[in-house]
Amino acid sequence: MSVTDHLGGGYLRQALESDVRAGLTSSPKWLPPKWFYDAAGSELFSRITRLAEYYPTRRELEILRRRAVDVAGLTRADTLVELGSGTSEKTVLLLDALANAGTLRAYTPVDVDAVTLAAAAERLAVRYPGLDTRPVRADFEQHLALLPRTGRRLVAFLGGTIGNLPPAAREMFLKELRATLRPGDTVLLGADLVKDPARLVRAYDDPGGVTAAFNRNVLRVLNRELDADFEPEAFEHVALWDEDNEWIEMRLRATRPMEVGIGALGLTVTFAEGEETRTEISAKFRREGMLDELSRAGFAVCRWYTDSAGDFALTLAAIPPPNTP
Ligand code: SAH
Ligand code: AVI
Repeated sequence: MSVTDHLGGGYLRQALESDVRAGLTSSPKWLPPKWFYDAAGSELFSRITRLAEYYPTRRELEILRRRAVDVAGLTRADTLVELGSGTSEKTVLLLDALANAGTLRAYTPVDVDAVTLAAAAERLAVRYPGLDTRPVRADFEQHLALLPRTGRRLVAFLGGTIGNLPPAAREMFLKELRATLRPGDTVLLGADLVKDPARLVRAYDDPGGVTAAFNRNVLRVLNRELDADFEPEAFEHVALWDEDNEWIEMRLRATRPMEVGIGALGLTVTFAEGEETRTEISAKFRREGMLDELSRAGFAVCRWYTDSAGDFALTLAAIPPPNTP
């Protein structure tokens, strides 16, 4: 299966270099979470989704099981575009519902990880032989305008990945997404909800260390791609709840003073003992906040679905007809 690649021709390498230079020469240091996801990182994320402590995937699946038919009936979409699609496991519920409604024609999964994307697309092409499956390797913060522009589109952004964007980037992302859509198109957005901080921290700091390995994977990516000499095991996994911002923050804490060379950048980065590098935020939402963000970006919210425990939400939003206030 051929994958349309918007990250080729040195694009990805340049973006990685620029992020790493900016993040690791800042104080405090940071790295964007999109660099977790090479094939090994995606596999670690899949293992996270099966952990007892990591509830979001199961909760979102529960909502989709109950509501996918409703979503299909309301959207009548013929083209499903999925951002940050990963293994596309939950997506089959949407594809089945749209197929049963008789509207489905095309599926475009979009991800930065080429290996996981191609494998998911192959699997779905076998399961849905009549479906026009067109995987696109792209960065959803950069390439929304390059995604399919025809058909009646439903854009699914599942898993709570929207929460991995800092607030300013999230606002920009929603506005850009809105700008690429037309009346008749819809968006299905997964968001994890604010809850007991102890449960949240457990979901990001499992005792078996799978999340810790996922967190450290970014250093392995830097070692391989940028000829860096990080010792991943010399960094401790940290997951904390930021009460003011209502997000989980993952960090990597240097367990001793270190000087790390990043060959491709001709850069040496110094870490003090105990120094922390932020690798991810995972924002948790409240209903009012999410609906407000969507309406400020120009969406009309149609449905707010939650699971039976009220842990996770899926919001269905539409593009209002022109001249609607
Ligand atoms: N939607 C799946 C996977 C979530 S993990 C689920 O709900 O289980 C987040 C996914 O988004 C990963 O597959 C990762 O490779 C992808 N991703 C992260 N940042 C991205 C970006 N900027 N552009 C495109 N894909 C991205
Ligand atoms: C992909 N994203 C929604 C996950 C999350 O929960 O923020 C990534 C993750 N990080 C640690 N565990 C899972």
